[in-house]
Amino acid sequence: MKPHVLLTRRIPSAVLSRLESSCEVERYDGAQAPGADELKQRLPGKQALICVLTDPVTSDVLSAGSELKIVANIAVGYDNIDVAAARARGIVVTNTPDVLTESVAEFTWGLILGLARRISEGERLLRRGEWKGWALDFLLGMELRGKQLGIIGAGRIGQAVAARAPAFGMSVVFAGKPGATPARLARGEHAGSARSEEPARAKATFVSFDQLLISSDVISLHVPATAGTRHLIDRKALARMKRSALLINTARGAVVDEAALAWALGERLIAGAALDVYEREPAVHPDLLAMENVILAPHLGSATRETRTAMADLAVENVLAVLAGRPAVTPV
Ligand code: DGY
Repeated sequence: MKPHVLLTRRIPSAVLSRLESSCEVERYDGAQAPGADELKQRLPGKQALICVLTDPVTSDVLSAGSELKIVANIAVGYDNIDVAAARARGIVVTNTPDVLTESVAEFTWGLILGLARRISEGERLLRRGEWKGWALDFLLGMELRGKQLGIIGAGRIGQAVAARAPAFGMSVVFAGKPGATPARLARGEHAGSARSEEPARAKATFVSFDQLLISSDVISLHVPATAGTRHLIDRKALARMKRSALLINTARGAVVDEAALAWALGERLIAGAALDVYEREPAVHPDLLAMENVILAPHLGSATRETRTAMADLAVENVLAVLAGRPAVTPV
């Protein structure tokens, strides 16, 4: 008998066919993302769950999956899953690292460039019919050449963002959360999903969290959402930044205290922010919605056809491996 899999989203048809060739697949097709109750109702009798980063795979939800062997998240982040509860039940949890690194890094640079050169702001103005023509002092932005990029989190994505900095003439410094030492960062601690050899490859300097805040022109966040990184960027951190600083978040919303960010932008303590992730997605702090010096993207970091296909494919590969009694390819 084929094993039963619950799939919470549509995935590319070629990837689905691969899954269906050896599994019975029940796909959730509702208009809204499935909540905990929906998942609990569908999990009995399933040996695998393939889910995404907004599905709440809590301990309570897992308790409904008495036959579950694997939860395969289609995302590199897995803060939506109670990993400890899964482990306690002997359920393997997997994520999709590596395959989205380049697309998230490219997107991060899109935000850096868009914010520094006020592209969204200019387009909004033009579409409102308010453009009066070229002027020497119109919508002046910040040139990146010669500036410092501060990357918090020296994992795969942080490293890939850093690798593109020389093309724009920027220097790079890395830091982890407060207390992370260069040696611990180099070992991958406090560093997101770092591999130990990566910091050396980036030819960047490791500095303390505080030093990064006070000296960087652009600060980009690349740490996972954990208890230790929640509100890493709070009022205190924002107040340490340069008044000309730009903050970029393509990591997780919870890393930034959104209310504190709105306050700092309102007080002109920093010059701008570009966000792809939010504390309560899809809700966004109302003050941020009203600000011109903010780019607000709807969690698009990994949203390329190539990457989303590769993410789904890796999740399926993990499921097929575990259901066949083999080790998962990318366990968390
Ligand atoms: C992830 O995989 O965690 C990303 O946020 C998806 O865009």
